[in-house]
Amino acid sequence: MLEVIKKRRSHREFQDKEVEREKVEEILKAAMVSPSARHMRLWEFIVVKDKKVLAKLAQTKTHSYFVDRAPLCLTVCSRKDEEDKYWLEDGSIAAAHIYLEAENQGLGTCFVQVYGSKREDGSEAEEYVKKILQVPEEVKVLCLMPLGYPAKKLPEHGKDEFEEDKIHWEKY
Ligand SMILES: Cc1cc2nc3c(=O)[nH]c(=O)nc-3n(C[C@H](O)[C@H](O)[C@H](O)COP(=O)(O)O)c2cc1C
Repeated sequence: MLEVIKKRRSHREFQDKEVEREKVEEILKAAMVSPSARHMRLWEFIVVKDKKVLAKLAQTKTHSYFVDRAPLCLTVCSRKDEEDKYWLEDGSIAAAHIYLEAENQGLGTCFVQVYGSKREDGSEAEEYVKKILQVPEEVKVLCLMPLGYPAKKLPEHGKDEFEEDKIHWEKY
């Protein structure tokens, strides 16, 4: 498991190659077994392959420019829990599962923050994405995750990232 975890990187360049539907489904299966508060499973996922829509999603904000370089994009959405307390954490863990299963399938992705991000004109990135993907008012959009076969092999995470001084045994 640690092997896959160390290999996982954020990919922003992709091969011009379709992703098999079975692989997309495996990745979404991984997302849907992620832990969720009170097992509420509030997340939902939008799979976009339409190139025109991908081009619009790439214009969400400055750091989403590469979204349309991938053959498809997953969008992590969530219904809100009653207290508006857990959906963000649940969605983030689902995104982590997507990252890892993508790596496991020989694919690459990148978490592109939408919730709380601003567009270049100062407007909300979330509102922009919701409009494009016809997301209902009450549903949140956490992130975009373009998915494809990576164009480059990026170096895997290494030993130097294990920092002893970030660990506090027993107390801070
Ligand atoms: C909450 C979160 C938001 C992120 N938002 C963006 C983003 O908007 N655009 C982007 O290109 N990368 C984004 N990233 C990816 C990070 O830049 C990346 O994870 C970090 O540089 C470490 O690189 P690695 O994922 O290859 O290990 C985000 C990652 C996280 C966890």
